[in-house]
Amino acid sequence: MTRSDDDSWDILTGVGSTAVIVAALRAEEARSPGPLARDEFAELLISAPQLKELRETISSEWASSPEHQEDYRRLVSYHAVRTHFFDRFCTDSSAAGIEQVVILAAGLDSRAYRLAWTADTTVYELDMPEVLEYKSETLAVHHAEPRCARHPIGIDLRKDWPLALREHEGLLPFLSAEAQHDIFGQVDGLSAPGSRVAAEDYSGAGLKQAIAMQRDGATPTGESNLDPGDVWFDDADVNCADWFGSRGWLTEVLDSRRESERLGRPVHSLLRGDDPVFANFITAVKH
Ligand SMILES: C[S@@+](CC[C@H](N)C(=O)[O-])C[C@H]1O[C@@H](n2cnc3c(N)ncnc32)[C@H](O)[C@@H]1O
Repeated sequence: MTRSDDDSWDILTGVGSTAVIVAALRAEEARSPGPLARDEFAELLISAPQLKELRETISSEWASSPEHQEDYRRLVSYHAVRTHFFDRFCTDSSAAGIEQVVILAAGLDSRAYRLAWTADTTVYELDMPEVLEYKSETLAVHHAEPRCARHPIGIDLRKDWPLALREHEGLLPFLSAEAQHDIFGQVDGLSAPGSRVAAEDYSGAGLKQAIAMQRDGATPTGESNLDPGDVWFDDADVNCADWFGSRGWLTEVLDSRRESERLGRPVHSLLRGDDPVFANFITAVKH
């Protein structure tokens, strides 16, 4: 898929299908014995009839060679660690009295339905309209009820989005550097003192290049539009912690490799290869 500044998608296409991929990774973790993070809605969200073909494509790609199976295991573990990190950020923030939570690029994130929010919590989920409609409708079919006041807001985050950011995950590689600067600036401008941000930061990780190299060296397994590297921007290398730190936010950077070791699920690199590819988990508090 060729990216442009005004491209759009639904749950089955382009960037939208990456929401299905990460939900499939959470579903796998939830099925495992003793999961690090149990997203019991992930399986429901990837099992709707209209996703059957996409789901089969994802499964067959991951099963297509021992190397892909190894990547799959790494990705399941990494996403378990990442889900655990953002879950804890949300529940800690909620326990500390934060009542408004904004999830940018929420995709098939089910935190509004599964986390133990304190009373009076409102969760705003922002993503493309078709992605959020798919999630709301699918969970309604299963009579799932949010555990907070949930407000899905269908919007393109490159254009206009209304509310302060408390958390974003799995979004930044899908935005150009300019769009990231815009979003960070909007977050800063709209955040009251005491606001918190959490983000997954791939800046400097060389992830897109590593995927491209792996793809070049791989045996083709057939036509597919499922490669996240295709929908990432080449210039999307803005260091989130530096950005917020230089504007007076108190930032902390957690190396995802250390966190995965701490949690007993070591992932030393997201992908096979000589150079480790990994993300940092960033938190920031506004003074
Ligand atoms: C890899 S998924 C992650 C979803 C979710 N954060 C999770 O971890 O399950 C990326 C998400 O970013 C959303 N996204 C990317 N760029 C966006 C934009 N410009 N506007 C709205 N949503 C966007 C996609 O629709 C997709 O749901």
